[in-house]
Amino acid sequence: MSVLIKNGRIVTATDDYFADIYIESDTVTEIGKCIERPADRVIDATGRLVIPGGIDAHTHFDMPFGGTVSADDFESGTLAAAHGGTTTIIDFAIQTKGKSTLEGLETWHKKADGKATIDYAFHMIVTDMEEERLLELGRLADEGVTSYKLFMAYPGVLYVDDGTLYRVFRKAGENRTRICMHAENGIVIDEIVKAAVADGKLEPKYHALTRPTRMEAEGVHRAIAIAEVADVPLYIVHLSSADALEEVKRGRARGVDVVAETCPQYLFLDQSYYERPNFDGAKFVMTPALREKWNQELLWQGLKFNHLANVATDHCPFCFKDQKTLGRDDFRKIPNGAPGVENRMSLMFQGAVVENRLSLNRWVEITSTAAAKTFGLFPKKGTIAVGSDADIVVFNPNRKETIGVGNPFTHHMRVDYSTYEGFEVQGWSEIVLSRGRVICENGSRVTTGGGQFIKRARVGELLR
Ligand code: URP
Ligand code: ZN
Ligand code: ZN
Repeated sequence: MSVLIKNGRIVTATDDYFADIYIESDTVTEIGKCIERPADRVIDATGRLVIPGGIDAHTHFDMPFGGTVSADDFESGTLAAAHGGTTTIIDFAIQTKGKSTLEGLETWHKKADGKATIDYAFHMIVTDMEEERLLELGRLADEGVTSYKLFMAYPGVLYVDDGTLYRVFRKAGENRTRICMHAENGIVIDEIVKAAVADGKLEPKYHALTRPTRMEAEGVHRAIAIAEVADVPLYIVHLSSADALEEVKRGRARGVDVVAETCPQYLFLDQSYYERPNFDGAKFVMTPALREKWNQELLWQGLKFNHLANVATDHCPFCFKDQKTLGRDDFRKIPNGAPGVENRMSLMFQGAVVENRLSLNRWVEITSTAAAKTFGLFPKKGTIAVGSDADIVVFNPNRKETIGVGNPFTHHMRVDYSTYEGFEVQGWSEIVLSRGRVICENGSRVTTGGGQFIKRARVGELLR
């Protein structure tokens, strides 16, 4: 199968020019002015941006959590991602406490195998790690799992203590792999939560009011300090507040290898959403919680000056009707997480480019290239170049949509609400190609399945 994309404006993290792209099978084989070779499919991209497919480095498909399971599996989640212009996701496999991480990986392979429409990779959530199991981390890296997420939050569930952090950090550094950190002091937060509950404070808003930004900043500070001593590259996931961002800046200024991710919810939504009537605030219960609105512009600045490297969604959907209501009488029982995998590219185009905060190149960088480089997918993914996978989005920079659960052009996620209901965005993924296959076109899916597991490279290595 060959595809020729003609007359488009190709935008990568570094370039911006008009040219044609020739694709043979999975791969970009030629980029040039006025390519006239015949092709099985010719796409006219006049007036469109032609960009590398989005990479969402933080999703939770089919994840048991909060007494239930996230509503999108690898079939619905990857299809929704595709509709939104994302062509690779990195999901989180989980180690069952006391069991092998390799078993956890096997479980996640089974969840994804044969179901995904776009390519996928895995991080591994490490929930405990005795000395004798440490060698597994190297075996995971051999299997293409070159990053591990650890939690300072959720005591009794995913939390690990500082000793475990240090052991895993050391070994991950030796293996030239990366640590992803959920940085929030869950132990102190649990005490604050207990006191709130004892006072009868049970509504959704107390989820945010019991999780001060200082406790996120403390977690970030501690993670950076431990990573510095253990000599491992660190990636702070879902950074939500200016307080925490200051700690990242400080660490980077003294030369620590730390980068951070934020998410659209922290750039577009704020703590006042928890005040919505009729338990609606539960839709936004996620961890870290939404913050006071003034944090948003500081996070945008963080993206502008590269203190924040990447934007991922932390897509972790739970239906309002059947799942969020588990916590109707007690915010602690509301499953933590919200949907967003489908809306990231458009939201970020709106906030970054349309609203003039960031350049087009930077938009591509924070939605695709940075994740590829950070997580061992580059240059196979994250750019448009001869030899790279033909993961390409023909993006209409003028089309406007109102995001909503009832809009068939913005909502294919298997969840009964939209985190961004009513948000107007300009910029829409019109044609989406995954390794040369057109998978979505003008809001319709063209094909399902065909997504492959991608074995990622170690830190500092290229993936070919
Ligand atoms: O609320 C969230 N973020 N749920 C998903 C789990 C996590 O901490 O990333
Ligand atoms: Zn987390
Ligand atoms: Zn997450």
